[in-house]
Amino acid sequence: MLQNLDRTKSTAIEELNSVSDLKALEDWRVRHLGKKSALTTILRGLAKLPLDERKAVGARANETRALLESLQGEKKEALRQRAYLDLEGRLTVEKLDVTLPGRPVSLGRHHPTTQMLREICGIFAALGFQVVEGPDVEWDYYNFEALNIPADHPARDMWATFWVDYETEDGRHPMLLRTHTSPMQIRVMEKTRPPVRVVVPGMCYRYEATDATHESMFYQIEGLAVDETITLADLKGTLFAFAKRLFGEERRVRFRCDYFPFVEPGVEMAIDCFACGGAGCRLCSGTGWIEILGAGMVHPDVLRRVDYDPDVYTGFAFGIGVERMAMLRYGIEDIRLFYSNDLRFLRQF
Ligand code: PHE
Repeated sequence: MLQNLDRTKSTAIEELNSVSDLKALEDWRVRHLGKKSALTTILRGLAKLPLDERKAVGARANETRALLESLQGEKKEALRQRAYLDLEGRLTVEKLDVTLPGRPVSLGRHHPTTQMLREICGIFAALGFQVVEGPDVEWDYYNFEALNIPADHPARDMWATFWVDYETEDGRHPMLLRTHTSPMQIRVMEKTRPPVRVVVPGMCYRYEATDATHESMFYQIEGLAVDETITLADLKGTLFAFAKRLFGEERRVRFRCDYFPFVEPGVEMAIDCFACGGAGCRLCSGTGWIEILGAGMVHPDVLRRVDYDPDVYTGFAFGIGVERMAMLRYGIEDIRLFYSNDLRFLRQF
């Protein structure tokens, strides 16, 4: 067995001397180190040998393999060097077919929600609003309490909440995933004095069953303007301008009363249905109008909370559902498409 091994080794070494290119070297490797080589067969058969023989043969076989492997490595390096040195070799190694067609570079694109976020923020930026952002994980205080929604207030039911309470030695601190971007109204006013004009894009979360018009995560854009002489007419004018820029100059808008605890009065705004022109169709559920946002005049209690004197300052606020705008704009019928990562959907935008 040992002799057998030594013979295999010398044959291999001898043959290696006449190897003169990488292809031949690979053939050599398969022949002497590959799965069907004599060496591998010996190594595989070790277990069947009696113990003392197994030790001796095993050691020798492993030695042989290590030697052959290192010789192969050296040879490969030498061949490479040579290939680069002589022009002939270099032309083979670096052969470049300039007539091959190039690989197409596929361009990425922005997610339809991102496109809509940017477009809407752009419209408000052009109207003089600053774009700011806030935390997704929020204190109960900002999401509810400071917005006139104390614990146990029935209006809390308007926002099914993901709670992520936070525990320290002093007890439990109510924390949540923000259910709307309105908490940023408070954060912005706490930090600045009027005049305030901001829009706040951000993801919101609701603990709700999903269907074609409800997702558990979605984007909103909050708007807030506070100054000395702001009235409901400013709210209407601003949102009217926004609706026309996003959905077309010919749009008409409708304001109706709505309720949100942090505004007084509260309104919802609708635009005339651009699919049927107001006659009534599937998109507007036969009403001729499509609701696009909630808004209102900032409640005096909210202003007091951040130390703004409601006798001096007034303001308006609004909240826009971003995916909803994209759905209307592009005729998307199911909100769940936005976050199901289906490229067939995403590539259309
Ligand atoms: N935050 C409200 C919601 O998510 C929308 C809103 C914002 C209403 C600002 C009035 C003013 O339902």
